Amino acid sequence: MDGNGRWASARGLPRAMGHREGVQALKRTIQAAPDFGIQCLTVFGFSTENWSRPAEEVSDLMGLVRTYVASDLARLEKAGVRLRILGRRDGLPSDIAAIIEKAERQTAHNDRFMLQVAFNYGGRADLVDAARRHMQRLLAGETVEPIDEDTLAAGLATAGSPPLDLIVRTSGEQRLSNFLLWEAAYAELVFQDILWPDYGPKALGEAVAAFAQRERRYGGREDAPARVSA
Ligand code: IPE
Ligand code: MG
Repeated sequence: MDGNGRWASARGLPRAMGHREGVQALKRTIQAAPDFGIQCLTVFGFSTENWSRPAEEVSDLMGLVRTYVASDLARLEKAGVRLRILGRRDGLPSDIAAIIEKAERQTAHNDRFMLQVAFNYGGRADLVDAARRHMQRLLAGETVEPIDEDTLAAGLATAGSPPLDLIVRTSGEQRLSNFLLWEAAYAELVFQDILWPDYGPKALGEAVAAFAQRERRYGGREDAPARVSA
């Protein structure tokens, strides 16, 4: 969800207004996603690197979490949405950590649609945490399994979530910025020159249409049948 600041600057508004409009774009996008066959949507809300922004902006972003969850949790729950927050819990203001836990608990029974919010998240940090988790289990004698792709994936914040098919970056930037690094291995990338507060069903439809045109080979070849592997 990139481009809130530029959206606000272009209108001579404070950045906080851009973030606020960004929440409206998020609501529109969540509502439209199931109509495009999307079962799981992950948005990047706050990165481990975003702490380096001015304190006032960090506090604006935290404030939006408070108001968004307070105003929308009941509606999301009723709409069959399961919320999962990806990211480190320590380091968050304690009321935000509590809000996150409540939102996850209250929607844990839902399975119509999954909304993952990466918050205090970094792809590298998540990989480090996954490796540490497995190492601790090894040291505690809880497992003898070596670190491999399965054991590492099982320790990621996205463990058990559907595989990642499509990554959309808004605002014209063309980089991943530490988002879902492991999960992105075979994801299709779509870059849209649209600022996040302007996002919604139309833009999402265009991203999905671009995705549908892609030929996914996962390292194989379209013209040769897959070899049977034991
Ligand atoms: C995204 O918009 C907001 C966050 C999720 C932190 P930005 O704040 O990065 O907006 P630009 O890139 O400055 O326009
Ligand atoms: Mg940005």
